[in-house]
Amino acid sequence: MSASKKLKITLISAVFAFSYSVAADHLSGHSVEKRIAPTGSVYKAGDDVPVAIVPIAEVSGPRTGEEVYNTKCLACHGTGVAGAPKLGDAAGWVSRIAAGEESLLNNALKGLNAMPPKGTCMDCSDDEISEAVKYMVANSQ
Ligand code: HEC
Repeated sequence: MSASKKLKITLISAVFAFSYSVAADHLSGHSVEKRIAPTGSVYKAGDDVPVAIVPIAEVSGPRTGEEVYNTKCLACHGTGVAGAPKLGDAAGWVSRIAAGEESLLNNALKGLNAMPPKGTCMDCSDDEISEAVKYMVANSQ
């Protein structure tokens, strides 16, 4: 056998050996398992959970007085619906403010005549209503 023929055979068998090992790896138990595994995994309490999927706690604190006012109170207090004291109308607020913050808050929480309890904001906390009242008072003097 000539030297060049020997080299050719060596090369060809090397290629075969290489492709065989690639194919073998392709069908090895581990790689097959990986490919047919369901997407997504179920984690039980105490499992080591990859950091990337740890749920991030929703960061949402209480709404500010201004936010509550703009979304819940402005409809009436912006234009003075049903005699609501308007934001910025000092004359409309002066006697109410004179009654004290506690009285204002109490009426805002429980309602007063055409003013519905909590201004209909049933998911507002008492603190959020209090902040909204403070915002209205601060902007109406
Ligand atoms: C449906 C209309 C309406 C909405 C919505 C509303 N109000 Fe009123 N509010 C009124 C009316 C009317 C009055 C005047 C009541 C009266 O003196 O007879 C009033 C009065 C008030 C007063 C004065 C109470 C007092 O002691 O004189 C405060 C404080 C107040 N509202 C806060 C709020 C806040 C805070 C919100 C939003 C969370 C809100 N209101 C939403 C209609 C509304």
